Amino acid sequence: MAHIRLRCVECGASHRADVRALYCNTCKLPLEVEYTGVGALSRSGLGGLWRLGAPAPVHSPSHVVSMGEGMTAVALLERSGLLLGLASLFGKLEFQSPTGSFKDRGTTVLMSALKEAGVDEIVEDSSGNAGASIAAYAARAGITAHIFAPASAPAPKVQQLRVYGAHVHLIEGSREAATQAAKAFVEQRGLVYASHNLSPFFLEGTKTFAYELVDQFPEGLPDHVVLPVGNGSLLIGAWIGFRELQASGRVKRLPKLHAVQAEVVQPIAAAYMGRPWRPQAGARTAAGGIAVAQPPRLRQALRAVRETGGACVAASEEAILRWQRLLAREEGVYAEPTSAAAFAGLELLARQGVIGARDVVLVPVTGMGLKDMAPAE
Ligand SMILES: Cc1ncc(COP(=O)(O)O)c(C=O)c1O
Ligand SMILES: [Zn+2]
Repeated sequence: MAHIRLRCVECGASHRADVRALYCNTCKLPLEVEYTGVGALSRSGLGGLWRLGAPAPVHSPSHVVSMGEGMTAVALLERSGLLLGLASLFGKLEFQSPTGSFKDRGTTVLMSALKEAGVDEIVEDSSGNAGASIAAYAARAGITAHIFAPASAPAPKVQQLRVYGAHVHLIEGSREAATQAAKAFVEQRGLVYASHNLSPFFLEGTKTFAYELVDQFPEGLPDHVVLPVGNGSLLIGAWIGFRELQASGRVKRLPKLHAVQAEVVQPIAAAYMGRPWRPQAGARTAAGGIAVAQPPRLRQALRAVRETGGACVAASEEAILRWQRLLAREEGVYAEPTSAAAFAGLELLARQGVIGARDVVLVPVTGMGLKDMAPAE
């Protein structure tokens, strides 16, 4: 990792690259990867998103843990566009990745960095999709994984963790309770906390979403990208990718990045609107993947939205479930509720005139409906 350092997202302080480092020593805020040189990684023979030529924190191709993730299809969503009064609405079918969600983008890079660092046992906490992704890639890398998840996580997601052979720790209470339990376990056992929410390496994978869009829209990038946001790994990763592409001259104008949250869990949308917000006891959303009350990268997520000229909105439960059904019946796209939330948010943005009828809009369909089936009846 001699070609990278880790930079504090707040004060800019530079830290030595280390897979265990998750916070700035001074600010206690998360870090991001800074490239000080070109890695020795030769991409010949590597598939999936590793072919895109994005700077990567891994040196040797022999450490890359990959299953050809990324390179997901873009589909025109004509009927949904008509319903919303939009001429050009596209979905990027992120559930086509190996474990059924966009998380594999981040995991392939994070797991490769862990393998390169010689790590053999990790801890992660997740509402489901990231855990499944980490469990799968850990199995592939020969790394033992402990995954902490809320006891309320959907059964198919928990089953997916188990089938990959992860040690599953189900924790009663909120999503945050699973995080606290994972952190305590890391302390107790002296293990590596491979947190997809905190690790800067995960964002180095999700940034490839931006690189792919440049290839898939050779005539010009979409005007708007509307994303479901909990911790913001796809939002922030896409922003990092677009800025890299802008710095290298490949992109002139960035799409506006819009963040969608659920009404009942909306720390980022509330901060964007300057409104106070506190989690309400017992309030649940069908969009479990974005039910994050205290996202550690909240300020970074807000910057991604503001600096690209985007907006944050909060979607109702009724609209989230309505869009899940609608996407399945009108488009043949079976999204999980968390992913459908982005469309519910798009509906608000179109209604508010933030997105115009002639604008080109892209929404990542981040996760597969089969993994979170309960609400879709
Ligand atoms: C399907 C799906 N979409 C979107 C998200 C939100 O990702 P993030 O928390 O990184 O913003 C998640 C997170 O678990 C997810 O599972
Ligand atoms: Zn700092």
